[in-house]
Amino acid sequence: MLHDDHHTFEDHLRESAARTEALMSALLGPSALPDEIARPEPLVAAMRYGTLNGGKRLRPFLVQEAAALFEGPAAAAARVGAALECLHSYSLIHDDLPAMDDDDLRRGKPTVHKVFPEATAILAGDSLLTYAFDIISAPETDLPDDRKVQLVLALARAAGLGGMAGGQALDLAAESETPGEADISTLQAMKTGALLRFACEAGPIIAGASSEDRLRLRRFGEIIGLAFQLADDVLDVTSDAKTMGKATGKDAGRGKATLVALHGLDWAEKRLDALVAEAIASLAPYAERAGMLIATARYVANRKH
Ligand code: IPE
Ligand code: IPE
Ligand code: MG
Ligand code: MG
Ligand code: MG
Repeated sequence: MLHDDHHTFEDHLRESAARTEALMSALLGPSALPDEIARPEPLVAAMRYGTLNGGKRLRPFLVQEAAALFEGPAAAAARVGAALECLHSYSLIHDDLPAMDDDDLRRGKPTVHKVFPEATAILAGDSLLTYAFDIISAPETDLPDDRKVQLVLALARAAGLGGMAGGQALDLAAESETPGEADISTLQAMKTGALLRFACEAGPIIAGASSEDRLRLRRFGEIIGLAFQLADDVLDVTSDAKTMGKATGKDAGRGKATLVALHGLDWAEKRLDALVAEAIASLAPYAERAGMLIATARYVANRKH
């Protein structure tokens, strides 16, 4: 069974997050790896500050649960999850920079550029982005090379020009233009959806599952992505900085185009319910074996932080 009365979904997520955090801490140690020349201490410190700081670790959890659905190797899934979390943490460090959202608070603490020089924050992001691809392709990731190449390609496409970074560009442009619903959906699918889609699709890639399985998990990831950003935009209106660990009311403050700004909170709540139903339907072929992923979809839509 998925969990008993005393062991909730959030307990599972927390336990998985602790394992991810321990692995990331080991990966971000002080000693240079073979063919690294040296690890500058202040840069390592900024990278650790920007990663080992209590994120929800939702993306690694999705990688691990999607891999487990197809009986993929757990150790490799943990490393791919840690790689993705390094890349996600980079996206947050850069998202918070003065030239972007100019935020002072992240995961309940001052943002990286508030604690370290801005240039160090930029370079910590650069180094985390690059390190993600190192972690996946390194010999310690025990997977056949062709799966590693598929993971590297999928992550590159999800993170770059046509994915997260491109979506961030469109998101910033949307502060001065007034995009319509279709444009908002596209930019959100890129800035947030692409990495979540990768998290879900990585599972079947790690496991060497069929292309049908890969397509199903990809679709599930797209739905999760939509729900995740919609919930983020709802929480930006309804929650507070103490709960969220980051400033709220930012989107309205910056005139940011979101679906909540366009359609309102009631619409958003209904849409979140519909997305959960869609997510469940997309995993119907796996019946109760997909229980943990379905619980994750519910969590994403109903999360409180
Ligand atoms: C925040 O992501 C950025 C968005 C894509 C909305 P998370 O809400 O997953 O942030 P952490 O990793 O838990 O801090
Ligand atoms: C961020 O979206 C998406 C990223 C790629 C980091 P937001 O700018 O809404 O995320 P928060 O609200 O700062 O976490
Ligand atoms: Mg932003
Ligand atoms: Mg932001
Ligand atoms: Mg936000």
